[in-house]
Amino acid sequence: MAKLWGGRFTKETDSLVHNFNASLGFDQKFYKQDIRGSIAHVTMLAKQGILTEQEKEQIIGGLQGILADIENGTLIFTEEHEDIHSFVEAHLTERIGEAGKKLHTGRSRNDQVALDMKLYIRDELDETDSLLKKLLEELLKTMKEHTGTYMPGFTHLQKAQPITLAHHFGAYFEMFKRDRGRLHDIRIRMNECPLGAGALAGTTYPLDREYTAQLLDFDRATGNSLDSVSDRDYLIEFLSAVSTIMMHLSRFCEEIILWNSNEYQFVEIDDSYSTGSSIMPQKKNPDIAELVRGKTGRVYGALTAILTTMKGLPLAYNKDMQEDKELTFDAIDTVKGCISLFTGMISSMKFHKETMEKSAKGGFTNATDAADYLVKHGVPFRDAHGIVGQLVLFCIEKNIALDDMTLEELKAVSPVFEEDIYEAISLKTCVEKRNTAGGPGTEAMQKVIAQQEAYLKNS
Ligand code: ARG
Repeated sequence: MAKLWGGRFTKETDSLVHNFNASLGFDQKFYKQDIRGSIAHVTMLAKQGILTEQEKEQIIGGLQGILADIENGTLIFTEEHEDIHSFVEAHLTERIGEAGKKLHTGRSRNDQVALDMKLYIRDELDETDSLLKKLLEELLKTMKEHTGTYMPGFTHLQKAQPITLAHHFGAYFEMFKRDRGRLHDIRIRMNECPLGAGALAGTTYPLDREYTAQLLDFDRATGNSLDSVSDRDYLIEFLSAVSTIMMHLSRFCEEIILWNSNEYQFVEIDDSYSTGSSIMPQKKNPDIAELVRGKTGRVYGALTAILTTMKGLPLAYNKDMQEDKELTFDAIDTVKGCISLFTGMISSMKFHKETMEKSAKGGFTNATDAADYLVKHGVPFRDAHGIVGQLVLFCIEKNIALDDMTLEELKAVSPVFEEDIYEAISLKTCVEKRNTAGGPGTEAMQKVIAQQEAYLKNS
């Protein structure tokens, strides 16, 4: 029965298998790194006398020609090649003949792909870091301009205590600064060169792995050939770090969406970062902030996918590991795009200082300070807490703020209150006197701003 369609089926299966197996569609993304790695490899082979100087020159010339032609668009990636490694090697041999066939001496695609991916991630890590730095510069600019812009600080999304916009942005500065720190740590740990590990067990050629490592700006060669071809830890660490960046961006976006709403009106996102509604003419939607928040999920997805792919793999290389690429590439493009757009959005955003200040004045954000006033006059904190609770009840009934109560009304609840209570609970005092290190007070904030400025200069 199989004979009825056997011939045709076999052919079709072959092409299905080829397509299923192939990775050129996506690993072409690191053609630069692949060629860079090959140039380092043949340079080392020639130094070790495994290739002649002439063969080395021929191969490097051919590889540079391939690189140039890919970049000027004359060399196109065609489907018959399985992956970027076979693509480059086939074209090399076509261009320079016999010498091209020697490129792969003492190397396997397993250590080659491990190298390419590492080089690619290392480049992308550096780019992500410089985008984060730009974002931090933008945040610091806003912080400097808004040390006196009062706003309510929240816990449980309820007004809690007054802070400043500089202080609020300062919190995100710390987060993105930690993100840069994480990238930095990963870079140090991952910076070992896997080339020379071969398929899994090294090679009998006298390779100088340290030399190759040096040519490719690695700190050293990896220490175990099995691990070299099967390690994707750095990728997991990197995806975890970019997931954390997305989580931070997403939280910030959530706040901006709230602040931009009609209910808050703390900020106004620029027209260039907003979109309209097809039906409601009055709408100006914070789509960019929403999309950044939304895209966070897909970056987490990439991290979960690679963790799951790796969890059951025996040593050393397994084809499953080819799945490390597409979602990672997508995650990287997503994160880089989100950081850039977010930076543009906040640098063009308008802050409504008066609305923020008015909001800070409502909601009894100075209640803690009223209690602290009593404590400073000898009332135990727990009693002071109770007294101010009564004041708040009184104010809610009359629909007034604590500052609006007369001294008689205050004294009726506690005789400790004197005229200086008004100064003690004014918004200015509540914010500007909070000078605990890391607090929103003017002095504390200026110190932090100076430190962050120095950090940006030196990093
Ligand atoms: N395309 C493969 C990958 O991305 C390259 C390594 C192939 N190695 C092999 N033994 N088939 O993982």
